[in-house]
Amino acid sequence: MGDRLMTARWGVKHLGRFVADIHRICLFALTKGGFVTDDISVLLEVALEAAEAARRELQARVGGPTLVDVKGSQLDFVTDADTASQSAILEVVHRRRGRDQVVAEEQGGGSAGDSGYVWAIDPLDGTTNFVRGYPDWSASIGVLREGRPVVGVVVDVLHGRTYAAALDRGARCDGTPMRVSPGRSFQATILETGFSYLLERRLEQWERIRGLMEAGVSIRSGGSAALSLARVAGGVTDAYLETDLSLYDWVAGAVLVTEAGGEWSTATGTTGSEGILAGSPRAHDTIRALLAEPTDPVQVPGSGG
Ligand code: IPD
Ligand code: CA
Ligand code: CA
Repeated sequence: MGDRLMTARWGVKHLGRFVADIHRICLFALTKGGFVTDDISVLLEVALEAAEAARRELQARVGGPTLVDVKGSQLDFVTDADTASQSAILEVVHRRRGRDQVVAEEQGGGSAGDSGYVWAIDPLDGTTNFVRGYPDWSASIGVLREGRPVVGVVVDVLHGRTYAAALDRGARCDGTPMRVSPGRSFQATILETGFSYLLERRLEQWERIRGLMEAGVSIRSGGSAALSLARVAGGVTDAYLETDLSLYDWVAGAVLVTEAGGEWSTATGTTGSEGILAGSPRAHDTIRALLAEPTDPVQVPGSGG
């Protein structure tokens, strides 16, 4: 009887260890082996790696880009900086995320995928500024999951800043948390905007902005949509509005803004192509309401706050 009890105890003890070992092995496999991964963390890591690759290519060409092509307008350039940055980003994304779809600005950059993730890549946002030496340009890398922006990295090479955000993880500039501006009166609001390369679209955009100016808002225009959105996320400006953008211009910036406590919605131009209105909740809602009202002149909202 005593021997049987001893044997049973031995069995229970070793079974317990065996189960604990299996548990440890499974945990290791799950976390390190790649069976189960936190997809958002991986996407952010890949976006940061790609942004670093873009940064190297762009840095190497500051002050000396070579013109490759001119698109529709005389200021819509493609340079070797655009193409080298795009190749560097795509090398990382294809190597690490082979099943994801890619939408990238420059020729040959797009590819299909079946994972439900879409990369929206602008290898050089603000090419005109880059060529002319105006210090407002960036690389922008965003990811959508089932159509929703979930990861965004924008790198401001000239000023050595990396803006990064991921769903439910906040937005940071070089590791420092970012926050959109507090609710301000409309008269104290700075709205940044951008204009299309095409004259007729530019005029239509200008009419919209003019209405908002008449309502009392201050206007800025930098020339890199992605950096403009990063400025909203950091509370430097209060809102950003531009119609007629492409997905790769705004996806990364939209994540920065929402993760910094702001809001965004699509803003459609006359051509039907989507742009964005993003801002602190108050600035976003006030401008949204003004845009929805085809009142001419725009009603001046009450001040306060
Ligand atoms: C442009 C910039 C600019 C915006 C234009 C974009 P690109 O992108 O984002 O700020 O106003 O609409 O086309 O052509 O320099 O990548
Ligand atoms: Ca762009
Ligand atoms: Ca571009």
